[in-house]
Amino acid sequence: MVVSAHPLATSAGVQVLRDGGNAVDAAIATGFALAVTYPAAGNIGGGGFLVAVMKDGRTTAFDFRETAPAAAHARMFLDSAGAYAEDRHHEGWTSVGVPGTVAGFFAAHAKLGRLPMRRLIDPAIGLASKGITVSWALYDDFVELDDEFLRHPGTAAAFRKKGKEPYQPGDLWKQPDLAATLRRIRDKGEAGFYRGTTARRLAEAMRANGGLITEEDLAAYRAKERPVLRGSYRGAEIVTMPPPSSGGITLITMLNILEGYDLASAGWHSAGHLHLLAESMRRAYADRARHLGDPEANPGMPVDLLVSKEHAARLRGGIDPARASRSDPVRFNDPPESVETTHYCVVDAEGNAVVVTYTLEDSYGSKIVAPGTGFLLNNEMGDFNPVPGRTDTTGLIGTPPNLVAPGRRMLSSMTPTILLRDGAPWLLIGSPGGRTIITTVLQVVVNMVDFRMDLAEAIAAPRIHHQWLPDVLRIEKYGVPPETAERLASFGHRVTFRGSSREQGRAMGIVIDPATAIRQGVADPRQPEGSAAGY
Ligand code: DON
Repeated sequence: MVVSAHPLATSAGVQVLRDGGNAVDAAIATGFALAVTYPAAGNIGGGGFLVAVMKDGRTTAFDFRETAPAAAHARMFLDSAGAYAEDRHHEGWTSVGVPGTVAGFFAAHAKLGRLPMRRLIDPAIGLASKGITVSWALYDDFVELDDEFLRHPGTAAAFRKKGKEPYQPGDLWKQPDLAATLRRIRDKGEAGFYRGTTARRLAEAMRANGGLITEEDLAAYRAKERPVLRGSYRGAEIVTMPPPSSGGITLITMLNILEGYDLASAGWHSAGHLHLLAESMRRAYADRARHLGDPEANPGMPVDLLVSKEHAARLRGGIDPARASRSDPVRFNDPPESVETTHYCVVDAEGNAVVVTYTLEDSYGSKIVAPGTGFLLNNEMGDFNPVPGRTDTTGLIGTPPNLVAPGRRMLSSMTPTILLRDGAPWLLIGSPGGRTIITTVLQVVVNMVDFRMDLAEAIAAPRIHHQWLPDVLRIEKYGVPPETAERLASFGHRVTFRGSSREQGRAMGIVIDPATAIRQGVADPRQPEGSAAGY
């Protein structure tokens, strides 16, 4: 079974399974296909994480997070007067990190794949060269972003009809430059992306436009295989992503805190339930801001402590069941989070389970396509803390663990996660949504474990989010009745509602019945073209 943000990518994965590929093969094929069909977040110009639990008990994680180029430095997002230059941090050529996705797929394939890599890239080449029909969802994106597409000739060539006008719903959208890049990857392997024509075109465009990425940066990029991070929640084992994601640690901390409460008897979405969720979130996100960043750059990161039951018990000790705590006075801001990352899940017939979350950061990333390459570049440098030592109300976080340095990986919230029961994969889950990713995954898990919901219900259910600072409890529109919001306010929470267009996350999951092994795949109803398919 495959669950992803686009039906054509889902079916590329399912077809690989049918042809004898395993879950890793299908995940790679789905990932390449999403790079063609779901340009908001599917990518070869971004990065992400893959977590696998194999039938034989092996567990592993692949980190293909983007890196800062060699010319990057901690003060690169300041202007000449020393003021924060947001346009360089989160937009334009300097916001681009060295892409990791292609290296990540090759690394995972070398270790765990079964079918030849070309079989996994060919479906994407077919989709890019033969074209796909422009859906209403794509059309809406294209209209919204048209001004940005026009800013960059490479982007206009890829995303506008003959480079000249927006595509209409029903039009056939071909991506010949992307197809050519994918063919180079198919024929030359990783070198088809990180060296030669693709790398040269990318580096030339960087040079011409004030970007930092060089051919050397591209040649030096390496995906990393890392041991998975483990935790447990009420008897289920958690296998998730370690740093440079903050997702796994923060998820396990929150679940460890919540394990000390009888959430089910509080009643689903009662003020008591939501208060305990919010207080757990507040504490885990404070840890995140203080401690987490690239693991190689922060060798002293207290990972074992943060995920320990003892640490959670200490944090739980500070929670008043009817009173909101105040977040520390250190001022952290709340940058807008979009949902444009994407998560997908694969389980094969043998029971191998793979979850991938990958991203360009914002929707359509930096909106930049280097001429002649056909693929969008990320704006992931925006996930680094921009101004060393300055953390204030205007949106700046300056804590040391996540400052820019050459080669460093920026902190992520992506949380591809697999829960096991009796040693076998039970729930595959993940979501986009920036910092709300972790609280989205948390609530799907709590809905399943504590409230015994069906996966479809657990994913569709409204969600809340608290991230320590700003000290605000955000609730999806219609997420709670007014009396619950009032009760939460009476506890001392600052409650705000997201508007209808500001849903929280787009979770994708698969649940495997331990008794029958029957799989149920669920794409979040918040995802316009999400799809689940098996065979
Ligand atoms: O890695 C991260 O946590 C983010 N760059 C993910 C981006 C995302 O989900 C979309 N929203 N900001």
